[in-house]
Amino acid sequence: MENKLPCNRKYRLIPNSYVPVMLRPRKRQSDQLRPLNYRTMEVVVVEEGVKKQDIVADILNERIRRRLDESFYVLDLDDVLEKINQWKRCMPRVGLFYAVKCNSSAAILRVVAAAGCGFDVASKSEMQKALSTGVPSSRLVYSNTCKAASHLVHARRHALRLTVFDSEDELRKLHRLFPGAQVMVRLRYGDPAAAIPMSGRFGVDTATARRLLGVAWQLGLEVVGVAFHVGCGSSDPAAYVQAVAESRKVFDMRGEVGKPMRVLDIGGGFPGVLSKVAMSFPEFCAPINKALDEHFPPESGVEIMAEPGQYLVTTAQSLFTSVIGVKSEADGQEQDTYILSDGLYGACRDIATFHLQPTIRVHPAHPPASEPKKVKVTLCGPTCDSLDKLVSDFSMPEAHTGDWLELRNMGAYTNELASGFNGFPQPKTVVLVSKGHLSLIPT
Ligand SMILES: Cc1ncc(COP(=O)(O)O)c(C=O)c1O
Repeated sequence: MENKLPCNRKYRLIPNSYVPVMLRPRKRQSDQLRPLNYRTMEVVVVEEGVKKQDIVADILNERIRRRLDESFYVLDLDDVLEKINQWKRCMPRVGLFYAVKCNSSAAILRVVAAAGCGFDVASKSEMQKALSTGVPSSRLVYSNTCKAASHLVHARRHALRLTVFDSEDELRKLHRLFPGAQVMVRLRYGDPAAAIPMSGRFGVDTATARRLLGVAWQLGLEVVGVAFHVGCGSSDPAAYVQAVAESRKVFDMRGEVGKPMRVLDIGGGFPGVLSKVAMSFPEFCAPINKALDEHFPPESGVEIMAEPGQYLVTTAQSLFTSVIGVKSEADGQEQDTYILSDGLYGACRDIATFHLQPTIRVHPAHPPASEPKKVKVTLCGPTCDSLDKLVSDFSMPEAHTGDWLELRNMGAYTNELASGFNGFPQPKTVVLVSKGHLSLIPT
């Protein structure tokens, strides 16, 4: 069978170099599947026996040689696939609906679709991106508790029925614009220790859920279940356990008119980097599975789904950013400041906002004569905003103008939050995929 290469360039690695081979663009295979956008993405097929770090070193060397300095991502699709497989092993009863908001790179969405998973979308644009992979709208959940009317009408046109609500106003809007929707009440329940708790803004308590369910039933809406999200970056499976138990109470609220509910959506929040939770992923999942089996045993017929975002993509993507300048102590600084080609308004918003300590490796432009000394520095982005500062007092190997920094675990909420302020471009993406997984990203 002909090997379907979805890439515009193929690299055959020969020692210390690689040769791009141009491939003709392929025809579209279906009405829905859109071609990958090669202006923002370059796909590199990793041949058997070739090490990914050698490809990355080649790409960096080429950039250094050509004096290019704009940031770029390296996205490892094999890592995304491994996360999906791990999910299927550890959460066998829980359908995976990837949260598109976390990283909507077309390559990731295709892997998710090809692996048989679904999507959590929050807007018309996210619907379009998810549907462009060719999945039917029945594999989408519209997880926005307050939907703009025009976006809701778009969902209706595409028969995207499964959605959430947490207010009477939203129920009336659904009744008016999309009476055939299948609705889940969003519960306010969360892990207070999560990096971004959700319960401040989203969801309702159980008493309010009871009242809203009454309204939904009166309006004749099809109430299919309960949804919750314990918060982004949860570190405590106990939060899910309690929310599952609370959801059971809502399932038991069936009034005279209410039909039995049949869907439980346990949201996102699953850790992207396990060092933060100090346990393995199977250990994180075990108590959640136990709670699901206790409150929603398989014989209950309840379909269980989740909307992980960062779990799937955090470790898959690294950011490569260059040091475009150094302002040193000799320039009157308290400590040396490295100015990078990416910052708060690019991929690094979360690092700056949540004071995260990035995991950094330095790739020197010129091989150093000796082991670089450790220094304490401030890292800043390239814009003219004084807020564009990532970290201070940050301990890392000494770097110089022209060197490249590799920031690991940059797959979640990076591309999506970048604004391009001051005209600095969004980093392009180099997608790495091993030859065996090529068929997962068809054109
Ligand atoms: C409704 C909903 N589902 C899923 C997610 C994904 O969360 P996470 O990336 O923490 O898994 C979010 C994140 O904001 C969300 O709001």
